[in-house]
Amino acid sequence: MKTTLNNKYDIEQMRISGKITASVLEMIKPYVVPDISTDEINKICHNYIVNVKKAIPACLGYNNFPKSICISVNDVVCHGIPNKYELLKNNDILNIDVSIIKNGYYTDASKMFLVGKVNKKKFFLCKKTRKSLYLSLQCIRPGIKINNIGKIIQEYIQKKKLYIVREYCGHGIGRKFHEFPHILHYYEAHDTLTMQPGMIFTIEPMVNTASPYVKCMDDGWTVKTREGGYSAQYEHTILVTNNGCEVITHQKGEKIPKIFINI
Ligand code: MF3
Ligand code: CO
Repeated sequence: MKTTLNNKYDIEQMRISGKITASVLEMIKPYVVPDISTDEINKICHNYIVNVKKAIPACLGYNNFPKSICISVNDVVCHGIPNKYELLKNNDILNIDVSIIKNGYYTDASKMFLVGKVNKKKFFLCKKTRKSLYLSLQCIRPGIKINNIGKIIQEYIQKKKLYIVREYCGHGIGRKFHEFPHILHYYEAHDTLTMQPGMIFTIEPMVNTASPYVKCMDDGWTVKTREGGYSAQYEHTILVTNNGCEVITHQKGEKIPKIFINI
């Protein structure tokens, strides 16, 4: 299958879209506090995306997903549906996953939020999951095999005695929400595709504390850890440049550069 190589115009549009996605994750931070419902967080993000940024929340209506963002709390791995009865409390960890469309261009990013004071295990999980994503960015440049990403993430996560979810992967993104290539978060020797300038894809490792296994709930969306352990995820949309990569969804305060020079 072919992967899109984005031209100058595409890349400019993806930067505009990525800034909006990043700004949603920056904007929502002060609202992520005890007693707010996940539905309230969804509403705030929806209104910001639509009314302030004049963009489209990509999740809303996607395969009939009912809300504008995904919120996945504690043992929810991904695709959590915001709900007015689900109230945040001290020691919760949650992933907020934001995907937007601006001028026809999709970008996708997510990060963990920690409510009040969280226990050591949760803190460790979030920190190491973020680090695994950040480490993988250091290998990205033209000519490198795409399976290096999963190799780096897997080696790091295994060393920390944590588990990578295998059912979901990163994906090409641009004029479409999901396209080629697939970006695995574990090592697959047969995946020999090579990175080229202009490729844009997400990297979005999901990491569990107890096992790599997951189960889907009866709502058809909510994915939980099979045995109730905790799960974390961080996601960025990444452009392969001539000498490294650019973090299209880079947020203020992140301890990584927006532009990686990896030669
Ligand atoms: N951000 C998710 C992804 O990477 C979107 C999930 S689709 C939804 O694919 F409908 F659940 F939002
Ligand atoms: Co994604």
